[in-house]
This record gives sequence, C-alpha cells and structure tokens, in this order.
Amino acid sequence: MSKPTKTVRKSQLRAAITGVCGYVPPDVLTNAELAQMVDTSDEWIVDRTGIKERHILTGKGLGTSHMGAEAVRGLLAKTATAPGEIDLLVCATTTPDFVFPSSANLICDMCGIRNIGSFDVQAACSGFVYALTIASQFIETGKYRKIVVVGADKMSAIIDYTDRATCVLFGDGAGAVLLEPSRKYGIIDTLISSDGSGMPYLHQKAGGSRFPPTADTVTQRLHYVHQEGASVYKFAVARMADVATVLMKRNQLLSEDIDWLVPHQANKRIIESTAERMKVPPERVMMTIQKYGNTTNATMPLCLWDYESKLKAGDRMLFAAFGGGFTWGGLYLTWAY
Ligand code: ACO
Repeated sequence: MSKPTKTVRKSQLRAAITGVCGYVPPDVLTNAELAQMVDTSDEWIVDRTGIKERHILTGKGLGTSHMGAEAVRGLLAKTATAPGEIDLLVCATTTPDFVFPSSANLICDMCGIRNIGSFDVQAACSGFVYALTIASQFIETGKYRKIVVVGADKMSAIIDYTDRATCVLFGDGAGAVLLEPSRKYGIIDTLISSDGSGMPYLHQKAGGSRFPPTADTVTQRLHYVHQEGASVYKFAVARMADVATVLMKRNQLLSEDIDWLVPHQANKRIIESTAERMKVPPERVMMTIQKYGNTTNATMPLCLWDYESKLKAGDRMLFAAFGGGFTWGGLYLTWAY
C-alpha cells in the first residue's frame, strides 16, 4: 500500500469532511416526459449520457438557496452542530438566486446562521472543487474550525426546454459538507485550473453585464445554457483524466490505492473514460448521473451523500471535475468517518 510522501502543505492541519447532506426537490422529470417535449428518446439519452431522470425544483419564488438551505439544515441536524458554531459558509453555484446578494448570504439567513463571512464561488461545474479548495485554506491556517461548503444549482432556471441538445442533461439539487480540522484525515492535495478561451463552447449568452437582459435577449432565447456538446466532450474527457493523472503522480498513488473516484457527473461516458485512464474499476467509481442528471455544483456532494454508508475512515478519494469556462480541478483526500 503506497502512501503519499509528497508534503503538499507545511502545516499538517487538514480540512476533513466530517458530515454531508443532500437535497433534491420532489418533482422528477423522466426521459419519457422529455420525449414528449422535444425530439428525443429514452434510448438516445441513456445511451449518450447515462441519465434516466432528473429532479426539478418547481414552486413560485424558490431558487437555489431553497435547496442549499434544505441541505445545510439537514447537515447541521445530522452533525449536531448549532448554527452559531459555523465560522464561514461558501456556496458554489452557477445559478445564484440573484446577481446579488449571494446565495450563500441567503442560505445563512434561512438557516439561522448569523454574522459570519459567506460568499458564492462561480466556476461552473468545477465550482465545488474550487469552493473546497478555498475553504480548506481557512482550516489549514487554523483561522476557522467549522466551515460549511454548499454546492447547489437550479439548472432548470437556465435551461431551454425546446433545445434537445441541452434540456436532457441537467437537473436541480444541492449538497453540503462540514469541514473541520483534523491531524489524521482530510484534504491532502488540490488542483484548480481554467482556460477562458473555452467560453464560446459553453456559456449563457445574455443576462450578465456584457449583454444585460432586454426584451430582445429574451425573444432570442439568450438566457439559457448554450453548449457545443461534442467540443466540450473532448475537452472534458482530456481534462478530467489529466487532473486525475497529475494528482495521482504527485501523491505517488497507484490505481489500487484509490478507494473512490468522485467524478463530476456530466456524462456517464466521460466518467467511464476517466476511470479507465486511471485504471479504477467501476465498483470504486461514484455514479449518480442516472437519477440526478448533471446538477452542476451539486453533483459531487450528492455523490458523497448517496455513497456515505459505504465509506469508512481513511478511504482515499480522488475528485475530478470539468466545467464551463473552461474550468477544471481535482482533490485528493482521505475520508474522516
Ligand atoms: N436526442 C436525440 N438526438 C440528439 C439529442 C437528443 N437529446 N441531442 C443531440 N442530438 C443529436 C444531434 O442533433 C446530432 O444529430 P446530427 O448528427 O443529425 O447533427 C447527434 O445527436 C449527435 O450530437 P452530438 O452533440 O455530437 O452528440 P454527442 O454524442 O456528443 O452527445 C452530449 C451530446 C451528451 C451533450 C455530449 O457531447 C456531452 O456530454 N458533452 C459534454 C458535456 C459536459 O461535460 N459539459 C461540461 C459540464 S456542464 C457545465 O459546466 C455547466
């Protein structure tokens, strides 16, 4: 059994995940229902993506913070943590409730968490890895002792349900983890990266400061996810595998050392090809895409939530993500419980 020998941090204080909770809204949108809305089929969707159904947040006035708050309330209850104990809350999201204030601010308020720092992180589908990377620094320096990191997205708010190329892919959901200091377990290495020249392939065309909302942008349907799937697919396959390879190499990990691969869930074929390149067998790869679709920032915490009962203290996990921007990133950690 090889052990990571590279000392990535000077301090041995690590940020360990000590609890996880997820939330998906009750309404389910099946492939059969989508086939009645656009020219697609269950067979095409399952074959090309692995997705069978996804959850959709309905209800007037409910945004990403609603799901994030559900996950955080569950997390606090489960870990017997009082709202007043939390030192910082970071929310990774691409679909914040408003341009401002941040959804992190709103989640804190909804959960009775007062007078702490809170902010959103925007890195598309890599956001949860980015947020964990940022939050872990505050633990490693000893500044904070309890940080909540949320990954949440209401993708249905920016999906064009007349565009078969994107509407079959995404779902809504949220997940939250508690980070606490540990000298035994936790985040050992992180990697975040980006390439802004990838913007044309995957972005929302209007709604930001470059093209603020107008009657025209709405008529032209520019407030939705625009994706050139095949191009993004090529980048995603390459970058996810690269992230995993770099983290394995610099932590001297062989494939048999990895107990769990935690990949961003965008497409079953991307996940399988990443796992193949790492030589990690399917039984050690977390896969939830069939029931949630791509929930963007929520895919990774939802994976941890779903697989929690199978995990044990010391399990070595490698996270790999790729998203719009382009952004990509990964983490190597040991599970704490
Ligand atoms: N049903 C039936 N046919 C479809 C559908 C559909 N839902 N969607 C596309 N098609 C058709 C296309 O029109 C095309 O038809 P044509 O050959 O007649 O032109 C054909 O299927 C092939 O289209 P491709 O886009 O080349 O299909 P591909 O095999 O690449 O699969 C997919 C598309 C699933 C989107 C894939 O490209 C993919 O997973 N891309 C990467 C997604 C990703 O990783 N995104 C990053 C994270 S997301 C984020 O950051 C927000």
